[in-house]
Amino acid sequence: MGSKKIPYGKISTFEVLSDGMFRKLFPETLVLSPQLNEVYELALAYYESKVLNEDELVDNGAYFIQVGNRLTRHYLMCTGDPLLLPAHSSSRLKSFFKNNQFRTGYSTHGLFPYRGKFHPQMVKALINIMGIKPGDTILDPMMGSGTVPIEASFMGINSIGIDTSPFCRFMSQVKCNALIIQQEPLDQALKNAKDLFEFFSRAAGTPAVGSKNRNYELSNYFNCINEEKANFKSDYTERIFELIKTDNTDVFDFLLLAYLDSAGYAERSKRQSPYDKFQAILERYLFVVKKIQYVLKGAESLLAKAVLLQGDARDLKINKSSVDGILFSPPYSFAIDYLANDSFHLNVMGENIYVLKEKMVGLRGKNFKEKYQLYVEDMGKIMSECARVLKPEKFCTIIIGTNDNQLSKALDIPKEEVTGLHKILLDMAVQYNFSPVRTLARQISGIANTMRNEYIIILQRDL
Ligand SMILES: C[S@@+](CC[C@H](N)C(=O)[O-])C[C@H]1O[C@@H](n2cnc3c(N)ncnc32)[C@H](O)[C@@H]1O
Repeated sequence: MGSKKIPYGKISTFEVLSDGMFRKLFPETLVLSPQLNEVYELALAYYESKVLNEDELVDNGAYFIQVGNRLTRHYLMCTGDPLLLPAHSSSRLKSFFKNNQFRTGYSTHGLFPYRGKFHPQMVKALINIMGIKPGDTILDPMMGSGTVPIEASFMGINSIGIDTSPFCRFMSQVKCNALIIQQEPLDQALKNAKDLFEFFSRAAGTPAVGSKNRNYELSNYFNCINEEKANFKSDYTERIFELIKTDNTDVFDFLLLAYLDSAGYAERSKRQSPYDKFQAILERYLFVVKKIQYVLKGAESLLAKAVLLQGDARDLKINKSSVDGILFSPPYSFAIDYLANDSFHLNVMGENIYVLKEKMVGLRGKNFKEKYQLYVEDMGKIMSECARVLKPEKFCTIIIGTNDNQLSKALDIPKEEVTGLHKILLDMAVQYNFSPVRTLARQISGIANTMRNEYIIILQRDL
């Protein structure tokens, strides 16, 4: 009772307004990123400003555009390009680039719309807050579309990215390689878009336009099983190389990703013909490459190494206490069927989807109840692996969404009795020698999402 009461109403409106909240939080020398408009972003910006010195904020800060009179690299990367948007851009695409300039619309993050993708700016801030420095190694054991390796690479931080899906490995690799890919063959490819489209359609197959009913069993020419197909494949590959005037496989893979991207669109919508979509996507991909390479010019050697592998997060082939930080986002229970979503692409990769299904966290199990039990079991194995490979006292951040309605139906219990996935992970963390340090909540926007809230859980590995 003896403690003094904090006096309210002591500061005048004039004083409180003229002082400004941001001045209280940040030193005068720092200018915040213009598109910062969520509470969790403000929190991350605040933590960044506390753990990084001024030089580090200039080089690797995520939420600041200026430090004193120096512009940050993040600012330059997002804005530093006078190129016009490609001719085929719709007004929606143009506004996407503009509105998300500092958040998602930079670097090669915009290539391929992978569901459940991280916010790159948030990834950058979390890497900083976890105290991971240039030369260190970060692990994302469920890398999806490779947001962590791409961000880390720019920050001079080595990365190991793992995903059980060969398509994710492929996509992440293409996005990393695109930072330094040759541009001339891509220009050449755009000029020959029609022929390329035809070759790819024959080789990779065509999606069922506007079907929405995704099928696990599609034909697959790339990983041919008989001689005729093998001949077809090599003939086809040669003809593509002729068209693009190089036999650089990075270029080939880049074009294939653009084709797969357009095939995904064609599956979802009939609005544009598959060829028109392919051409528009290829044009956008080229724009992305030109933009980021323009920004990177002369600084390519600063990019750190990204080792991207197909593997299983429950059984990491990585040495004990060998990584300096872990950042990942597991599937949110069984909310997204990544195999159904990517079935066309996985078939092109020659993957047996039924075999893969048995390794996919969230997809194992016959019914909802069993799926949930297996999910929790799998997440336990992943936490245990994370604790094993992380150096003592270093940090592991997990981003997880939860949907209590879905879980209540799945488990057949009232919503009030559901324990959200974030709470389950927090309990598990303690079992596996982690101490929870901070949990931040962020809202998920977009109408198609089944999740409303996502949690950023920052854990520290015990000694
Ligand atoms: C929410 S997504 C990650 C998205 C990623 N953070 C990004 O920025 O694109 C979850 C990923 O976990 C992968 N996954 C599922 N089971 C896995 C396992 N056993 N080992 C490794 N990855 C797995 C899925 O293929 C999917 O790409």
